[in-house]
Amino acid sequence: MLSKNTHNEIVGSEIERSNDRIDLTGEVFTPMELCAQMVSEIPESVLKDENSTFLDPAAGSGNFLLALQTELLKYHELSHINDCMLYGIELMEDNHTEMCDRLGVSVDHAHFVCADALEYDYGFGQPVGLENELGKIGTPELYTPPTVDKKTQAAPLF
Ligand SMILES: C[S@@+](CC[C@H](N)C(=O)[O-])C[C@H]1O[C@@H](n2cnc3c(N)ncnc32)[C@H](O)[C@@H]1O
Repeated sequence: MLSKNTHNEIVGSEIERSNDRIDLTGEVFTPMELCAQMVSEIPESVLKDENSTFLDPAAGSGNFLLALQTELLKYHELSHINDCMLYGIELMEDNHTEMCDRLGVSVDHAHFVCADALEYDYGFGQPVGLENELGKIGTPELYTPPTVDKKTQAAPLF
């Protein structure tokens, strides 16, 4: 059952994104025209700045990154855009491969990673700055809520 998936038809993808899979992963991609429209609203000064960076932490098939790449090509070389300006994270391996194909980068490019964005250290091939400055960050201690003595709790109002 593929009725929730309009992306495949438009983009020509062969990945089987069933309704069950879409329910599980939230793979409802932003239409390319909408991505292009949103990207066109980014101020020109930001697009022109070679130090600007853009991250999609749940990149799917790369619709946003592709729209950004297309817009940034008006001002920068493709290699600079891919190697210095764009970043993407995607959980599903097949989506990640499709995103890399569409962007024209290899699947082991350091900026486009297949990972859980909730766990990833956002290093993108570089040491994470905070580790250098603060030392290795340990596992946080589990939060224990304070215990409340029942007698000190306010009495119900009714
Ligand atoms: C709603 S789609 C959006 C894709 C893209 N940003 C777009 O607008 O077209 C969400 C994507 O996030 C991915 N995803 C879900 N949980 C994730 C996680 N924890 N880390 C990375 N990607 C995740 C899904 O596999 C799916 O491809």
